[in-house]
Amino acid sequence: MSLEIVILAAGQGTRMRSALPKVLHPIAGNSMLGHVIHSARQLDPQRIHVVIGHGADAVRERLAADDLNFVLQDKQLGTGHAVAQAVPFIQSDTVLVLYGDVPLIEVETLQRLLKLVVPGQMGLLTVELDDATGYGRIVRDTDGKVSAIVEHKDATEAQRAINEGNTGILAVPADRLADWTSRLSNNNVQGEYYLTDVIEMAVNDGLVVATEQPHDAMEVQGANDRKQLSELERHYQLRAGRRLMAQGVTLRDPARFDVRGEITVGRDVLIDINVILEGKVVIEDDVVIGPNCVIKDSTLRKGVVIKANSHIEGAILGEGSDAGPFARLRPGTVLEARAHVGNFVELKNAHLGEGAKAGHLAYLGDAEIGARTNIGAGTITCNYDGVNKWKTVLGADVFIGSNNSLVAPVDILDGATTAAGSTITSTVDKSQLAIGRARQKNIDGWKRPEKVKKS
Ligand code: UD1
Ligand code: CA
Repeated sequence: MSLEIVILAAGQGTRMRSALPKVLHPIAGNSMLGHVIHSARQLDPQRIHVVIGHGADAVRERLAADDLNFVLQDKQLGTGHAVAQAVPFIQSDTVLVLYGDVPLIEVETLQRLLKLVVPGQMGLLTVELDDATGYGRIVRDTDGKVSAIVEHKDATEAQRAINEGNTGILAVPADRLADWTSRLSNNNVQGEYYLTDVIEMAVNDGLVVATEQPHDAMEVQGANDRKQLSELERHYQLRAGRRLMAQGVTLRDPARFDVRGEITVGRDVLIDINVILEGKVVIEDDVVIGPNCVIKDSTLRKGVVIKANSHIEGAILGEGSDAGPFARLRPGTVLEARAHVGNFVELKNAHLGEGAKAGHLAYLGDAEIGARTNIGAGTITCNYDGVNKWKTVLGADVFIGSNNSLVAPVDILDGATTAAGSTITSTVDKSQLAIGRARQKNIDGWKRPEKVKKS
């Protein structure tokens, strides 16, 4: 079976009250449409057609990719009209229709739906709802076979009592779809070309409309306003949290934890409250992440400890290294095994060797720091001259006293020591002591100034 997927994403989304097209609103850091495309790709289709209309340029710009065919629907004349725009491009035998504003649909559910497409049969995803107001209703004949879908606005009182709702997601034979969509009319209460009318056509053509249901009704829930968007967000996060817990992560509170990317975890990981993981984050065994940390595009090797309120981006933390509380590790930071970064320390494009330490209040930018080297409190690299960035290179076993200014480019070789309060501007050789500060002068008999009396 060859498959193509059509994603409807042309609608306006007035109730979002936003300049951003509805399908670009984010769930877990990715647009709703981005999530649908991600799931669609996992079904390995020949091509994905995205029907766009409102905010078409913005959508195309944000999501452009080789496997996506954007099809413009100039006027939003209905879901059937939208699908019809994509039909001329379809070359495969099966078409799956998805929605850009229904982001939580699970790949497993779609696989079950696609299994229903066999000769003489198509697949429809339906959902049992306590209150199906607004949904198209699934009409079944006396044998329980689907015979039609009736839109809420077109339904009789008796039909409105049906609790089985149409999710809109369906899988059909491509050759039939072309015929059906060409025969749709807009002779209904809303004056729209309804995709749902193809169900009755299929039945009239002798096809069986077989149905599947999602395990979880939230999978087929759309977001029309920001309240619904927030509900989908929380649902996504709880689901992501459950997956991590199943893999051996303790979450202190799954309701206060957010994933906005792809996370790989080991076992016996502990994550405290209000942690946000973004982008690609790899967390190995026995890692502990304290409360209020943001960790983006980083790798935390076995046994790393991140203490409260740390912000880590584009960093690699070696086995048993630790950072925080209040550490800021910026892109290009590498901590080798057992390196230690303490409070109010900022690192950028800095390499901290095995067992090296920067315990307090430091800025280390564009720096190469050897094993076991100790950086005193208040030390900064002066890496920027206003035009160019320069490198600071420290060897192994260096001891930088407190409150040093290391004016790059500068080299401090293995075993060297710098005195507290030094401004280091030139090379310090192996095992030398560098003192780069004014000598202390003590003045005897010093009289403090007296307060001037105002007349
Ligand atoms: C649709 C279904 C309904 C189902 C419900 C589930 C039809 C006629 N009705 O109703 O049976 O219960 O979804 O939520 O299909 N879109 C376009 N172009 C258009 C019209 C719509 O791209 O011309 C897109 C919208 O952006 C949206 C989706 O299709 O993502 C559904 O459209 P919407 O108008 O919300 O359909 P409903 O009235 O909710
Ligand atoms: Ca809708």
